[in-house]
Parts: sequence; C-alpha cells; structure tokens
Amino acid sequence: MSDMRRKVTKAIFPVAGLGTRFLPATKSIPKEIMTLVDRPLIQYAIDEARAAGIREFIFVTSRGKGALEDYFDINPLLEASLRKSGKDALLEMLKSTNMESGAIAYIRQNKALGLGHAVWCARRLIGNEPFAVILPDDVIDGEKPVLQQMVEAYQETGGAMVAAMDVAPEKASAYGVLDIEEDMGDLVKVKGMVEKPKAEEAPSNLAVIGRYILTPRVLANISKVKGGVGGEIQLTDAIAEEIKQGRDVYGYRFRGQRFDCGSKAGFLQATVAFALARDDLRDEFACYLEELMSVRKAVE
Ligand code: UTP
Repeated sequence: MSDMRRKVTKAIFPVAGLGTRFLPATKSIPKEIMTLVDRPLIQYAIDEARAAGIREFIFVTSRGKGALEDYFDINPLLEASLRKSGKDALLEMLKSTNMESGAIAYIRQNKALGLGHAVWCARRLIGNEPFAVILPDDVIDGEKPVLQQMVEAYQETGGAMVAAMDVAPEKASAYGVLDIEEDMGDLVKVKGMVEKPKAEEAPSNLAVIGRYILTPRVLANISKVKGGVGGEIQLTDAIAEEIKQGRDVYGYRFRGQRFDCGSKAGFLQATVAFALARDDLRDEFACYLEELMSVRKAVE
C-alpha cells in the first residue's frame, strides 16, 4: 500500500447507542454531552482526532442527539454576549468546539443494531481510504493522543488496527479479545478476535478498546456478518473476517490511561482524574478528597 493510501483523514464517531447505563440522564441528554469537569466527552474525542490529523468528522447519530449537533455549531447569541462583555478567553475556548462548514457530517442509524451496523451506516461517506473509528465513551489520557500513536504505527503496518489493552483475565469477557499470533510489544499481530468471550474461552487478556483504523473492506465485511453476541452486528466480527480472508490485523498497545466512561464507575474515576489534573481545581479538590477519605477511614 502506498504512503498516500495510508493517510487517515476521516473518522467515524458512532454515538447512536441508547446509553441505558446512564438513565435517567440519557433520557434527554446524549451520553456524549455529559461532562468530565467542564468538557463534554465528545470534545475529548474530537481533540484527539484533530491531533491525529483527522479533517472530516462523521457522526452516526440517532433520535434525541440534537444537542451534539448544536454543540459543534456556532452560537451567535452567546458569542455576541461574550464579546460585548469582553470575555475574550471564553470566546477563544469556544473556538475548539466549532467545526468548519463541511468538515462534519451526521448520519442516522435508525435502529440501534450494534456498533458494526453504526459504522456501516457511514459507508457512503468513506470512499476508498482507510478511516478511524473513535468511541467517545473510551476516554484515553495519553501524553501523545492515542489515535496519533496509532496513525503513526499504521504508517508502518497498513492492514487494520485496533487499540489494545491488557486487562485482568476475569475482566476479559466484557471486551472484544485478541487471539495473538505474534506479540511484538507495542504491536501485536492478530490471528483471531472474539467479542465478549466466555471466561474460559478468552484467547488472551488483550482487550480491544474504542479506537480503530480500518479499511473500506471492513465495511464490506459488515454487510456480510450476521448478528453476533447479543444479536448486535459486531464490528469485531467484521474485523475478524479480514483475518479469515488472509489480511493483516494488528492490535496496538497504546500508551495512556483509559477510562470507561460508558460505565458510572469509569466516568467517576475520569472525573476525579481530570479534576486533579487541572491547575485551577487541583488544590481545593485534592483537599476535599483527602478530608473525605480520612472521615471514611475514621468510620471504618
Ligand atoms: P455501548 O455498548 O456502550 O452502548 O456502545 P450504549 O448504547 O452507548 O450504552 P449502554 O450500554 O446502553 O449504556 C458503544 C458505542 O457504540 C455506539 C454507542 O453510541 C457507543 O459510542 N453504538 C452502539 C451505536 O452507535 N449504535 C449501536 O447500535 C450500538
């Protein structure tokens, strides 16, 4: 594959899920708009994509996700009011939320048939180039943004690539799990992938995390795969199909800390970690946490 063909400039953000683990909040708020401190989950995903050189942002949405579209739009009234009151720093901050016209596309997934199906919904916007998929639920704090790490590794490998993380063996059945052919450290050549395997059937404890670099062929595979675990059309199955057809699939062990913000515990952990990383909040918040913990210890 030529270098040109390995350039990744488009990313799909599948955000059409129901977000049932955050009900009742997600009855009227898209999960991706929920904030870690003061930035919605989706902003972290977009910043990561931009850092990796993504120029076209494709959202697969569903009913009730209008707040996402508004978030990326210019808000003339708000901006005029901030300008009038001289709040230049806030105006500057808002710039990272605005998207150039034409850089962002929204496409509907009418039924939540699974992640694979959501990605497939964007097939006509992808054309003939490799593309990234980012799940905004997986927030990864890395010195170098994780998608950028992957795009760089992808220049060497081509094929298809998934972000991978070693998890405790008893946790593996909550993830897509890689069957390892060759472990090269950061990179792992994969000979199979299983979505949410039974504990005794997990081929390893190397789990797939929500970042992918895929080729249009994987989209074609999705048309062929039937409903997998839970009756959903699984992206993992469509990637595993690549291996069956003799093509290269890699896992990439990223450097960074991943938070599962699709779960309440993970979301809370991320909130604490991001608050403690902020200069404007660290001291006060750390003090509060220490007090809280000492009260807890005293009670125990
Ligand atoms: P999840 O498995 O976390 O599902 O989807 P969910 O609906 O978001 O949340 P819960 O489990 O009900 O709480 C992983 C990612 O795939 C997207 C979701 O929006 C999320 O980003 N997805 C999932 C879709 O876009 N469509 C689907 O049919 C399923």
